[in-house]
Amino acid sequence: MIYKHLEVTNHEDIMVVTLNRPEALNALNKEMLSELDNVITNVKYDSKTSIIIFTGSGNKAFCAGADLTEFVDVDYFQSQKVIEKGQTIFRKMELLGKPTIAAINGYALGGGLELSLACTIRLASTNAKFALPEVGLGMIPGYGGTQRLPRIIGKGKALELLITGRRIDAQQALSLGLVNHVYSQENLMEGAFQLGNEILENSQIAVSQLLQSVERGYDLPMDHALAFEQVFDSVASSSIEQKEGVKAFLEKRKPVFRKTIDTNK
Ligand code: COA
Repeated sequence: MIYKHLEVTNHEDIMVVTLNRPEALNALNKEMLSELDNVITNVKYDSKTSIIIFTGSGNKAFCAGADLTEFVDVDYFQSQKVIEKGQTIFRKMELLGKPTIAAINGYALGGGLELSLACTIRLASTNAKFALPEVGLGMIPGYGGTQRLPRIIGKGKALELLITGRRIDAQQALSLGLVNHVYSQENLMEGAFQLGNEILENSQIAVSQLLQSVERGYDLPMDHALAFEQVFDSVASSSIEQKEGVKAFLEKRKPVFRKTIDTNK
């Protein structure tokens, strides 16, 4: 499928989705959000893709946030409509059941940072800059930023960044736990692929069940969360991949897992 604002390339089991509006530093307009929605919906049921890497085109920005030209003179309902759209898409990403890696190659501001917060893992290049600057624009982060940032880096640190709108660099993001690793700009995508390939060595059925167990259970009371874990683990533990995993251990060899999820065989 050809998109106007996204470039989608497949590298065997890994898909790279590049936000592609370099003239606006890859800012998220409504059309790009709809295209993201389309990619995420399709990839969920695409048995050939196990991992998705998100990055930005050019070497300056991952994504400079929501397209501010679409926020001129908006009323309550117009704001709510676009906020709901962004929230729904990013939540869909989070519940995809497949690992998503944000390869943050420059500015990750506002909605751009929020997109990365909905990914499983964030990696950054040394030139990356992060902020949720919405309060300086008279808004608040509305694509999940007020909820996901505190969950990822802790409430106290998140609140400081949220109410100041302060911009931080890659090293500060690393020390806050906002990103997991920092690479030189040239090595960022290689780092993302390496991580993807490491994940691909495991059972993708197990990885998928694990992601869903964490995402569905995280905010629930412990007993409810554990009930989810039982179901997700039972799916993994009764899969053909589990049989191969345990057999390989007992035979003292490396397991041979499929790189994609195929529950039929
Ligand atoms: N929405 C729409 N257009 C944007 C944008 C956004 N969020 N961010 C950048 N752009 C556009 C600029 O308007 C400019 O377009 P122009 O060349 O037609 O004037 C182009 O991208 C390049 O940006 P520019 O500001 O000239 O680059 P810079 O290097 O001087 O500054 C930033 C880079 C990211 C610091 C600056 O563009 C910025 O602060 N952007 C807004 C970030 C933001 O507040 N995001 C949160 C939105 S809720």
